[in-house]
Amino acid sequence: MKVPFTWKVTGWFMIGWSPEFVAGRTRALHYFGEDLVAYRDDTGGLHVMEAHCKHLGAHLGQGGKVVADRVECPFHGWQWGPDGCNKFIPYQPDRPNKALRLRVYPVLEQHGCVFIWHHPDGAEPTWEMPDIFGKFPQFTTGPRDYYRAYPEFSRRLEGEPVHPQIVAENAADSAHFQYVHHASVTPQLLEWEMADQEWHFVAGFPDARADDPEQMALRFHSHLFGLGGAISIFEGVQQHRLIFTCTPVDEGRSDLFYSIWWPRLPGDESEAPPEEVRERVEKQFLSTVEDDLGIWRYQRYIENPALSKVDAKPFMTLRKWATQFYDVPPH
Ligand code: FES
Ligand SMILES: [Fe+2]
Repeated sequence: MKVPFTWKVTGWFMIGWSPEFVAGRTRALHYFGEDLVAYRDDTGGLHVMEAHCKHLGAHLGQGGKVVADRVECPFHGWQWGPDGCNKFIPYQPDRPNKALRLRVYPVLEQHGCVFIWHHPDGAEPTWEMPDIFGKFPQFTTGPRDYYRAYPEFSRRLEGEPVHPQIVAENAADSAHFQYVHHASVTPQLLEWEMADQEWHFVAGFPDARADDPEQMALRFHSHLFGLGGAISIFEGVQQHRLIFTCTPVDEGRSDLFYSIWWPRLPGDESEAPPEEVRERVEKQFLSTVEDDLGIWRYQRYIENPALSKVDAKPFMTLRKWATQFYDVPPH
């Protein structure tokens, strides 16, 4: 998809789930047009840095080894520390090249989800990634009250032609639910506000059986953390938390990550959800990403859309809010 803004978006972006990063192993990644290496050190710390060794350019994620808290290059054994600095050269053990340094990306693990901070020029984080379970304190349940999100209730869609802003724009678009998600009623955008790097909104699904059109059967509370994604909660018969994120891979493509925390059945202490719950969540919720993708994959970005009275204000405000995450021009 062609968009008039950069794919090198600034903010916190999801790159996977904690169990995918095994202790003592390296893993090759590619985001924001860069080859990256991730490795989990012996004490459990997770590091993400530029992948190509500063010696002769080997890829540290393709055969590199973890040695204590360092990553060792598969080509000539040079070792790099968590700070990205060269720590060891095997054939001159007392003289590492201290001037050589790989770019390091700040990493954050939260409730089994892994995020990196991305700024096109490598600037440090200017805001914090909000806590998934710290959001919506009016729903007081904690992580222990839910089945694990990964792997059963998590999905990754790779290399989709979707820019993070397109996903964010869904937040201002309540009308698409009826058409795209086969909702029996049209949700209403009940509240929305900008809060610095966050965009908050509540959408309500009117109760079709009630006489009062203001009565809602279901509410959807959502906080966007920049353009990286949204932390949300469904308020209805049961409440579940979810995170839906979008991380640019290259110019024109992104990976999408989706995780749901579903409330445990009373008395069930297991980590993994039972089969019948899996089936239901899969069908009703996990599959909804495919609905949106059916549109996004073929959509064209319209810079000056003809908006209706209901969606004009939130839509244009959201687009303006999004510009704060573009620190470089498009190219
Ligand atoms: S290329 Fe990495 S040690 Fe030579
Ligand atoms: Fe949608």
